Amino acid sequence: MRVNGTPHRTVWLDDESGVVKIIDQRKLPFAFEIEELRSVDDLATAIRDMHVRGAGCIGATAGFGMALAAREAAVQVDFPTALQASAELLTATRPTAVNLRWAVDRQLEAMAAVDSIDEKVEVATRVARDIADEDAQWCRRIGEHGLTLVREIAAGKAEGEAVNILTHCNAGWLAFVDYGSATAPIYAAHADGIPVHVWVDETRPRNQGARLTAWELGQEGVPHTVIADNVGGHLMQRGLVDLVITGTDRTTFTGDVANKIGTYLKALAAHDNGVPFYVALPSSTFDWEMEDGVREIPIEQRGGEEVSHLAGYEETAGAEVEVRLTPESSPTANYAFDVTPARLISGLITERGICRASREGVSELFPERFQGTP
Ligand code: MRU
Repeated sequence: MRVNGTPHRTVWLDDESGVVKIIDQRKLPFAFEIEELRSVDDLATAIRDMHVRGAGCIGATAGFGMALAAREAAVQVDFPTALQASAELLTATRPTAVNLRWAVDRQLEAMAAVDSIDEKVEVATRVARDIADEDAQWCRRIGEHGLTLVREIAAGKAEGEAVNILTHCNAGWLAFVDYGSATAPIYAAHADGIPVHVWVDETRPRNQGARLTAWELGQEGVPHTVIADNVGGHLMQRGLVDLVITGTDRTTFTGDVANKIGTYLKALAAHDNGVPFYVALPSSTFDWEMEDGVREIPIEQRGGEEVSHLAGYEETAGAEVEVRLTPESSPTANYAFDVTPARLISGLITERGICRASREGVSELFPERFQGTP
């Protein structure tokens, strides 16, 4: 997607320098900065401290991290031990997003299939690029499939009347390599000339909606309005939301969805008001081993300062500042994700099409994953 009119990706390997480059998402929307990552440690810090974030972007960054890990291990005495240590370091950075483990495992498998260390390094570089390219392709296809939903709703509206779509957190192109998951159908509809308007949940405590989704929709010229997190239910009661689309950090093969904290409440409100609630994801975000999302998906708990403090742009100083919101003595809790049970979800939008959020629905689109299971 575009930044100041120029097409961009969120993460890539610079051919000449061999350095991994990312958009530093911590600085947006107030500054657009590219950060250079030169080592596995740099990559691990970037993922853990959310210089990059979002399911697909984390996966692609981890893929490039394993390419650097192979290079670093190649100059150690014990290649397998060094590679494994890097794999573990990267996997431990964020517990909920399953794309991270998926990318690391895919790299380990690809490297195990060739013999020499030179070949392993070469394979890891190629696979890292494949993971990033696939992520972009899959999101583009999610957009094509999701477009059919938006078209259907638009067909029932008066000429020129916008389709109102609510989204939570940032599952836009910044959370992937390109296009995004939840935003891909929105960008596709906008490009197709369908009038759309997006309600952007601010998404406390880190405000990924207010800072990131709003910024990227603005860059693409998509009409949008930022709302406080608690507003969605009210808008749905008033008939001001036609469709909810969110992303996900991990989805069980039975259709339970882990996503940014607050998603569950939006799903409840949508269910109560008969508003379709869809979740968009590439297949790399499915957890093919987990059946019961509420019980099994690990929920990351982040530092309490994300709740007790708020960062924003101080216009007089012309710089970003952080202020305290809570009494110094009040404890805080910071659960980063929640799980929306499949029964509240109208459907999953994937690169292969749209399916019901259920074991049966998912198995129709991904039959190869269910072979041999009753
Ligand atoms: O904590 P974050 O910003 O890494 O949260 C992840 C997310 O971006 C959201 O949960 C998003 O909606 C799904 S990831 C595409």
